[in-house]
Amino acid sequence: MSEVSKGLENVFIKATSLTYIDGEAGILRYGGYDINDLVENCEYEEIIHLMLFGDLPTASQLQKIKEKINESYNVPYQVFEVLEKLPHDADAVGMLETAFSMLSSFYNYPWKKDENKWRAIEIIAKTSTLVSNIYRIKEGLRPRLPEPSDSYARTFLETAFSRKPSDEEVKAMNATLIIYADHEVPASTTAALVTASTLSDMYSCMVSALAALKGPLHGGAAEATFEQLKEIGDESKIEEWFDRKIIKEKNRLMGFGHRVYKTYDPRAKIFKKYAEEIAKTPEAKKYLRIATKLEELGIKHFAEKRIYPNVDFYSGIVFYSLGFPEYMFTTLFALSRVLGWLAHIIEYVEEQHRLIRPRALYVGPIKRDFIPLKYRE
Ligand code: ACO
Repeated sequence: MSEVSKGLENVFIKATSLTYIDGEAGILRYGGYDINDLVENCEYEEIIHLMLFGDLPTASQLQKIKEKINESYNVPYQVFEVLEKLPHDADAVGMLETAFSMLSSFYNYPWKKDENKWRAIEIIAKTSTLVSNIYRIKEGLRPRLPEPSDSYARTFLETAFSRKPSDEEVKAMNATLIIYADHEVPASTTAALVTASTLSDMYSCMVSALAALKGPLHGGAAEATFEQLKEIGDESKIEEWFDRKIIKEKNRLMGFGHRVYKTYDPRAKIFKKYAEEIAKTPEAKKYLRIATKLEELGIKHFAEKRIYPNVDFYSGIVFYSLGFPEYMFTTLFALSRVLGWLAHIIEYVEEQHRLIRPRALYVGPIKRDFIPLKYRE
């Protein structure tokens, strides 16, 4: 062992039957099913069944998943009390970390093969309650428990906004949930796996994952990408902005580039389509036009280095069009990705468990003679 794999690039941390990525061809499949087919035809609850139980559900299996979700939305009132006491400008991801961490003290269940998957569904339901209420609390609205509906996506939007969402909004929310549901082992899932490998509880694994998701190089990119669009502000300024910020100042173009995809991220294509459908206000349409032109410039400049739009390039426009402020973007990513985090830690703990404990290659002095403080210069 004499080489450090920087960024753990090309290291396999586990085997998986959950998600297949072909980064050269731009292919993403969950359990063998193409992401485009799943987004077009499925409800998020079907993906929950696929990820946790290995296949798409029958009608009665789907019903059972929905029932379990609908009976699991409750969270202890103390969680709302604490979230409401945080400063008005508290970071939304930090609030979700706090809430997960509180739930780990309420539900510190040990790992049990016949219970793990149903516990995971409870966590998925409670995450909807938490994320919708983080929005409510930050907007100065009273927290409320969800009133179960026929779909996870619908219940989430209804709880957040206290109004019935349109079918188009539910469809876009459902698509968002499926697109972000899993992506093999990025930094956040790896963080969850490291924590799960010590047999820590599932909520603590969610805290680890979320902490890793927060950074702008990972889940924070959707917000950072949308900031770019706002900073540009007008289509006429795109070229000047790109020349100054990206070419001269050498800043990264947010929403571009990926460790695994060396072509267009298939998820970016789906988000672009939904952004085109759902961007209705003049402001949203303006952001979409800026993003489309920025994409063209970005591809022209970066294609040679095989840097293309990633999942976060258009997702912000969908979130914005659904009515969410930017501070919510990373929590919306987390709302969906809890499924992938949970499915991976369950697959690992149940089928391949071993404590994750890598090594660091020591490169310091091998041995030095000790010098007492008074003799040191
Ligand atoms: N803009 C400009 N240059 C870039 C970008 C970018 N977005 N991405 C990579 N590069 C360049 C780097 O500067 C580097 O160039 P060099 O070889 O001349 O020094 C080269 O491409 C390789 O970059 P790395 O950072 O080593 O590649 P890595 O595989 O680690 O990059 C990453 C992946 C971190 C996502 C990167 O593309 C990036 O920073 N993108 C912007 C942030 C972003 O959108 N993150 C979301 C990713 S998707 C997700 O997490 C859900």
